[in-house]
Amino acid sequence: MKIWGISDTHFSGSRENGMVVHGPIWLEHKEQIVKHWQKTVNRDDIVLICGDITWSTTLKQAMQDIQTLSGLPGSTKIIVRGNHDHWWGDYNELCRTVPENVMPLSANAVNIDGHVFCGTMGWLSLNDPCSDSLDSNFFHKEMDRLEKSLKLATEMDPKHGIHLLMHFPPFTTGGIHTPFLDVIAEYPVTTCTFGHSHFPEEWENIPQGNINGTIFRLTSTDFLKHKPVLIWEG
Ligand SMILES: [Fe+2]
Repeated sequence: MKIWGISDTHFSGSRENGMVVHGPIWLEHKEQIVKHWQKTVNRDDIVLICGDITWSTTLKQAMQDIQTLSGLPGSTKIIVRGNHDHWWGDYNELCRTVPENVMPLSANAVNIDGHVFCGTMGWLSLNDPCSDSLDSNFFHKEMDRLEKSLKLATEMDPKHGIHLLMHFPPFTTGGIHTPFLDVIAEYPVTTCTFGHSHFPEEWENIPQGNINGTIFRLTSTDFLKHKPVLIWEG
């Protein structure tokens, strides 16, 4: 079994792909994601999708794109909310509505054969130069949710490791460490997968790889050229 990551798919449901205004990398990006995913991911693998899944605004609209993810290879697709996932409403309703092989996480954790997956959205850190006073409430709420999900994960007998999903990177846009990173460092986290970042100048700064025993991976689909990236291999 392998664990793959890809985030910020920014699908458009049945509407036109509005992402093309952000550059040629977004031309037919859904088709490219599907093509690469089918080539890369096996039936028994798990895929982590770290938010900004679809531009849909209601769960009903979003189901078309969620069904696309559900139908792709992989035994389980684990999702967390991104800041553009306005369709993500009541968590219990969401869990009841999505197909069985799509598993939403919201400041909680799930154990799949000894691998514990946990996650939350995260937020722009208050030490980020782009943050302002409006970010304070979201930041503190997401700090609490991160702590809660990691605490739950450690209590779930993570024999083969803890895999954390966040939408926002636990680094500033300049790649400096944040209080989110301090929380992560308090727990035995094997991998931390995140997205949100769409600017090449940020990609250069965001640390990736092994930091204090945790493997960090940026998985924004444009950064990955729409190819799922390997997060863990047993
Ligand atoms: Fe995004």
